[in-house]
Amino acid sequence: MNITFEKVESGRIKELAAMTNEIWHEYFPCILSDEQIDYMVDKFQSEKAITAQISDGYEYYFICNDGMPCGYIGLHCEAEKMFLSKLYLKKEMRGLGIAGKAFEFIFTLTKKYGKGSVYLTVNKQNQHSIDVYKHIGFEIIDSVVTDIGNGYVMDDYIFQKNL
Ligand SMILES: CC(C)(COP(=O)(O)OP(=O)(O)OC[C@H]1O[C@@H](n2cnc3c(N)ncnc32)[C@H](O)[C@@H]1OP(=O)(O)O)[C@@H](O)C(=O)NCCC(=O)NCCS
Repeated sequence: MNITFEKVESGRIKELAAMTNEIWHEYFPCILSDEQIDYMVDKFQSEKAITAQISDGYEYYFICNDGMPCGYIGLHCEAEKMFLSKLYLKKEMRGLGIAGKAFEFIFTLTKKYGKGSVYLTVNKQNQHSIDVYKHIGFEIIDSVVTDIGNGYVMDDYIFQKNL
């Protein structure tokens, strides 16, 4: 396994959006309804939505194994800290230690940008991700319920790790 990270430039947003659609519809049915997944992919992970986020300063990276995209990371460097907006691997690439490598990449970039901590939100029912975040050294600092429209809410923990 040779894991690398490739910044998503405008020419590859369509490819990224196809991957987000695949992963979200494969993973989230255990937590969210199909209707909510459709709504969230369209609102947050469509080609149009990702293009707008990148214009607003978000950075996306493909996680690649031997040059082949197998997941992605979304980051937004804020005034005080780094926001890890997205971390997703394709199903067959989970459980192989790739997330550990992704976190090394994220922490290195965070320090390069002069920030001392990384935070993220995670659905309270997303137990595997919660276990991984705790293992990596993240701690729960708060909870937040976010109204995302169309009658849907996100019930999340906020995790943070100081570097
Ligand atoms: C969340 C996700 C990226 C984690 O990746 P993963 O491949 O499952 O995790 P890894 O196998 O790389 O494990 C990362 C570390 O956590 C540890 N770990 C894995 N499962 C664990 C568990 N249940 N309890 C404690 N530690 C665990 C691993 O040992 C590894 O530690 P190491 O780096 O010290 O060896 C991946 O499961 C995923 O894409 N999930 C679906 C999408 C998702 O929910 N994304 C997050 C949305 S907030």
